[in-house]
Amino acid sequence: MSYHTEYQAACQQPQQFWADKANRLAWYQQPGQILHIKGEQYQWFADGVLNTAYLALDYHVEQGRGEQIALIYDSPVTQTKQQFTYQQLTDEVALFAGVLKAQGVAKGDRVVIYMPMIPQAVIAMLAVARLGAVHSVVFGGFAAHELAVRIDDASPKVVVSASCGIEVNRIIAYKPLLDNALKLAEHQPDSCIIWQRPQQPAQLQAGRDFDWQHLLQSAAPAACVPVKSTDPLYILYTSGTTGKPKGVVRDNGGHAVALHYSMQAIYGMAPGEVFWAASDVGWVVGHSYIVYGPLLAGCTSILYEGKPVFTPDAGAFWRVCAEYKVKALFAAPTAFRAIRKEDPDAKLLKNYDLSALERIYMAGERLDPATYDWTVAHSGKPVIDHWWQTETGWAICANPAGIELLPAKAGSATVPVPGFQVAILDHNGQQLPANQQGNIALKLPLPPGCLTTIWQNPERFVSGYLRQFPGYYASGDGGYLDENGYLYVMGRTDDVINVAGHRLSTGEMEEIVASHPAVAECCVIGLADPLKGQQPVGFVLLKNGVSITEQQLQTELVQLVRQQIGALACFKQALIVPRLPKTRSGKILRKLLRQIADGEEYVIPSTIDDPASLAEIAECMTKRGLIAE
Ligand code: COA
Ligand code: AMP
Repeated sequence: MSYHTEYQAACQQPQQFWADKANRLAWYQQPGQILHIKGEQYQWFADGVLNTAYLALDYHVEQGRGEQIALIYDSPVTQTKQQFTYQQLTDEVALFAGVLKAQGVAKGDRVVIYMPMIPQAVIAMLAVARLGAVHSVVFGGFAAHELAVRIDDASPKVVVSASCGIEVNRIIAYKPLLDNALKLAEHQPDSCIIWQRPQQPAQLQAGRDFDWQHLLQSAAPAACVPVKSTDPLYILYTSGTTGKPKGVVRDNGGHAVALHYSMQAIYGMAPGEVFWAASDVGWVVGHSYIVYGPLLAGCTSILYEGKPVFTPDAGAFWRVCAEYKVKALFAAPTAFRAIRKEDPDAKLLKNYDLSALERIYMAGERLDPATYDWTVAHSGKPVIDHWWQTETGWAICANPAGIELLPAKAGSATVPVPGFQVAILDHNGQQLPANQQGNIALKLPLPPGCLTTIWQNPERFVSGYLRQFPGYYASGDGGYLDENGYLYVMGRTDDVINVAGHRLSTGEMEEIVASHPAVAECCVIGLADPLKGQQPVGFVLLKNGVSITEQQLQTELVQLVRQQIGALACFKQALIVPRLPKTRSGKILRKLLRQIADGEEYVIPSTIDDPASLAEIAECMTKRGLIAE
């Protein structure tokens, strides 16, 4: 089958195309209705009934895969390795589902999961899905405030957490963060279930907190609860342009069909093969390709609690690939930049037998040609850049290796995946010709697996994604298609930045910086960073009469952002400036600031209020060494 044939089939006969893909799954009730359009909602497989955890686990046991390894836990930070067969994982999930059920969790209830990269995080997600409930996993690196915001929005019946996480060789106590979050949150869950880790057990609050291991002792396994295809499976919060994160809602049916298809079409995976997404369950990559995708496809998935470097060295990725005979590795470009920095000639790679590894996939941020070239040259494997978002849940553009491996072009995420129709639009929504940069938009309907709405805020879904270009989903990314239909993603067109593959909102950081008593006005922009892709930098205008040194202010602001968002924001630099460059209508010229710092060519807009402010700010940046050569 050629890519072209498959792609055309998805465009021209989407109902038949997706009905065929849906038939590959063991639904309790096969869908008769494939695509149903309800206002601005596109519902996939609306009359289908299924259970996602059943498809990911029990189904494989029934098919005779019970003894196959489903999940490998490899944790260099705790020197632990553990494997779960499909039978064992099914049993563990059913039992923990029983624990949740005994705590009152039923179909449709929300459960917030705030956990490090341990098997219990995967077990908790699947147990929630087994009950037809809705999980919302919060990345373990988020601080109490961020967790509280998510708890208030998702209003969970239960929060599941662990006593601590481990960052290289530093223990991060999770429980105090959860306690603080619950002090900040208005919504209070009925109970918290805590997995006690030996590295640092937590204090439990009688009546509210329960020890996971103790609850298991009296638990009875719970059965899979059938749900409608359109019932939500999970909510995953992601950064938008405002301080309030958006709760992306994923359905059950479309998600299962899309991920199952993607494992074969994009990643070329077959049941029994080993897949490794070196991400975190707190991100969409972790949801789709540590947990659901590989398990729906009957593969073996790896849960890695470590870093690409320092745990213990820059050979860690190659070691894991060799040890478990990984067929496809998926990681963020920043991880490979970190490996290259520590081991520029990839000497450590030569210690490992990588003959089982067929392809390396990258996503989460732009794959710069230098990192692409280095990885291809040293691994000798095809490196596939693919572009997607929390919202879409799976790749929009990729080199579809399972259909046909197309010639790669450095800097391009290759071609639209069957089901996605990509267009480059100008600000008026007019389609642009090849090689012209504009807004990347996706023609509606989106294929199965993409967001169905924003939790508690359907209007934000419509206004944030569907209003800008009628008939299209606005991705928020800019880029162009070349004459062969290859997509080049150049970066966000909004105030979202990408730090070490983590999506963050500069708007949210601005709200935090502006809350400091010395700050009259501020802006935060993402500047190019050789390791992490981008790093946030704050520009601050002091209130009249305030006396504080730049160093002192920076220390306080860094602390404030760490406290409110978490260390992962990597907010480390703040500059005091005499004025912020603005348009006459008062809009801060953020893009211009970024272009000056990154050494890009720029045009001073005619709408600028005071051109002299640019020279002043450039001088401040030069003093701090922020202007790229
Ligand atoms: N819990 C608590 N803290 C965390 C955390 C977690 N789960 N994850 C990160 N942090 C902290 C780190 O300890 C660090 O704190 P520090 O500033 O006090 O040192 C801070 O957040 C920044 O972390 P990180 O961005 O991971 O930087 P790093 O310097 O520790 O590591 C890389 C650099 C490149 C190795 C790392 O960023 C990496 O592996 N990136 C890949 C990201 C990824 O897989 N993204 C998923 C998208 S596919
Ligand atoms: P997230 O929702 O956290 O997965 O972040 C999605 C954003 O990351 C996208 O909107 C892009 O800005 C960026 N991104 C993801 N993958 C790629 C890629 N392959 N190339 C360029 N940017 C990417």
